Amino acid sequence: MEKFDQRIQLVASSEFSKVVDQWRRTQSDLPSKSEAIRRLVQLGLAYEEDNPMRLVTAIIRPHKYEDVRDALLELGVEGVTITQVKGFGRQRGQTEVYRGAEYQTHEVPKIRLDIAVSGTLVEHVVEMIQKTAGTGKIGDGKLFIQPITDAIRIRTGEHGEQAL
Ligand SMILES: Nc1ncnc2c1ncn2[C@@H]1O[C@H](COP(=O)(O)OP(=O)(O)OP(=O)(O)O)[C@@H](O)[C@H]1O
Ligand SMILES: [Mg+2]
Repeated sequence: MEKFDQRIQLVASSEFSKVVDQWRRTQSDLPSKSEAIRRLVQLGLAYEEDNPMRLVTAIIRPHKYEDVRDALLELGVEGVTITQVKGFGRQRGQTEVYRGAEYQTHEVPKIRLDIAVSGTLVEHVVEMIQKTAGTGKIGDGKLFIQPITDAIRIRTGEHGEQAL
């Protein structure tokens, strides 16, 4: 049996209090406010466990970079690695137009963004990049999404989402 022997003082806004009350009224056993907060914390922790961090790699058109960066910052992404890359997709770069000129070579300049994202943000980030970087024409780029086993902030040794 779980022992409730730690008293935790919590000061919150009336808005927070209202939201908690609203939620506990949706529970069939109408838990106390403290119990509601305990359950909500458990739900949050479980949600984090089910939605692990991801590394989102986006290969986008260079002229879309600023818009994507601004939108990433707005979403609350903590950091981004940016690399100038070249590549090709299905058309082998042959029919793509870059800065008005048709590229004769196979490799077309792109910007690569590597973004380590908390599980709760991944979906928003992916959706936003798709919307912001897309033109509907061939060569809009790609998104690759991989699970991250861990992240570490070198300065402090923090792990996981704390390190992002
Ligand atoms: N399978 C792949 N693996 C690694 N990188 C890729 C892959 N496909 C595309 N890329 C990268 O994405 C960039 C853009 O690819 P592109 O958008 O042309 O893909 P596509 O599959 O040909 O789609 P579209 O038909 O819309 O052009 C390439 O220049 C390359 O850097
Ligand atoms: Mg292509």
